[in-house]
Amino acid sequence: MQNRPIGILDSGLGGLSVLREIHALLPNESLHYVGDSAWCPYGPKPVEDIRARVFAITDHLLALGAKMVVVACNSATIAAVESLRAAYPVPFTGMEPAVKPAAALTKTNTIGVLATEASLAGEKYLRLVNAHARDLRLITRPCPEFVDLVEAGILDGIEARHAVNFHVMPLLNEGADVIVLGCTHYPFLRPVIEQLTGPDVAVIDTGAAVARQVKRRLETDNLFAPEDTEPTIRITTTGSPKILERAFPKLCPGLKADLKQAEGLG
Ligand code: DGL
Repeated sequence: MQNRPIGILDSGLGGLSVLREIHALLPNESLHYVGDSAWCPYGPKPVEDIRARVFAITDHLLALGAKMVVVACNSATIAAVESLRAAYPVPFTGMEPAVKPAAALTKTNTIGVLATEASLAGEKYLRLVNAHARDLRLITRPCPEFVDLVEAGILDGIEARHAVNFHVMPLLNEGADVIVLGCTHYPFLRPVIEQLTGPDVAVIDTGAAVARQVKRRLETDNLFAPEDTEPTIRITTTGSPKILERAFPKLCPGLKADLKQAEGLG
């Protein structure tokens, strides 16, 4: 039987933080990733532009046989996941900033939410806050420099520390004891963020929860890969394959994958 891949997409290389969780939980599954680095960042772009890119990438992934699609980008999820579900017959899993678990963890009633403008602007975010954190103080902050660093494969050193200090220090000064990483690029800077925050502040993201959600969905839809096939991991980019080749070993150390330019996505 054919081993159809799980399609995974992001504005760039950030969604690899979700891919590595999916691979750790479901090592038998083939994965096909598209990073839209030529159009990165999505965060400051109008919703219609993000949606158009996400539909084009979804068409591409489905044409290549994807059995489900993980929208491994908070900005793309906010902009497009509902229209994707209405338009295509395959299952979609999207991202959501970890506001609910953060609300359960905070003792200072102050939570820092790091996410892009696109993720924070939508109705969906307001609904999330109203449902789970209505009485708490949420300090939100887009960190576009984090996206640039991760796209360049820079995960530590002076530049990374400087950007992290700049964005995270104000949250600590306001008494935040939980920091939500609400953009899939940001978990790659978690070690630098945790160096600054220390052990008394929780830094959380939803990559592992999304991987569990993907597993549940494969189970209910009877879509698990057959046991006897060899899984393949294909990582493609609309940007420069050279940059992908340099950044990938830092983002996913030890993971064996085919790295390629995504064909026909402009
Ligand atoms: N990785 C994307 C997200 O989760 C956004 C980064 C960007 O393109 O601005 O929101």
